[in-house]
Amino acid sequence: MDARTLKIDAAREALTYVSDGMKLGIGTGSTAEEFVRLLAVRVSQGLSVVGVPTSERTAKLCRELGVPLSTLDDIPHLDLTIDGADEIDPALSLIKGGGGALLREKIVAAASDRMIVIADASKLVDTLGAFPLPIEVNRFGLGATEHAIKNAARDLGLDGPLTLRMTNGEPFATDGGHLIFDASFGRIPDTRAISDALHAIPGVVEHGLFLGLADVAIVADAGGARTVRAAQ
Ligand code: A5P
Repeated sequence: MDARTLKIDAAREALTYVSDGMKLGIGTGSTAEEFVRLLAVRVSQGLSVVGVPTSERTAKLCRELGVPLSTLDDIPHLDLTIDGADEIDPALSLIKGGGGALLREKIVAAASDRMIVIADASKLVDTLGAFPLPIEVNRFGLGATEHAIKNAARDLGLDGPLTLRMTNGEPFATDGGHLIFDASFGRIPDTRAISDALHAIPGVVEHGLFLGLADVAIVADAGGARTVRAAQ
């Protein structure tokens, strides 16, 4: 079974949580895009929803496919966000931001009553951190921020290179105009500690650890899509 089929399976199952009149947060990435395609078909059949996209890329796809959009300025509170993830642990803590949209993704998820993560089963891990942690940073003071991140991580026993994300030979810029360091810390046993430490650094805009935000994960493998809840 190819990866795209699994993403579609997870997205189709997530659609069963969507009902008429809902205000939806709409995620970013290849899995979220499969959800947008399926959602657009339902909209064309008469489903009434309004979506807040988590990136310009998702907004463009929604517009092309006729999914009605709004903003958190007009709709500050959403019913449900559906988004992908780069890693999912048993507590449903996530690493996100592989697509560079982590800041808007976190703002939208935090503004939602519920967040459903959709993924193929390869995203399930015992401990987060094999996927490099994206850290969105302000352009100003980049060197000082890099230094501070390394020190904060080292204090928590986390080591490993920070790589400034590049695209076409230039630093990758997020929709907010910020830059991203991908931090190859390896296993992150205490996600809350590194989350708090990163938030304490002024040049850090946000990081890709999503803690306590996901309510349910819908994970697809060759046996189909199944719902995963946080382990107690
Ligand atoms: C976007 O910034 C990310 O958080 C994505 O949600 C994540 O990278 C998953 O993307 P895929 O569905 O393409 O794997």
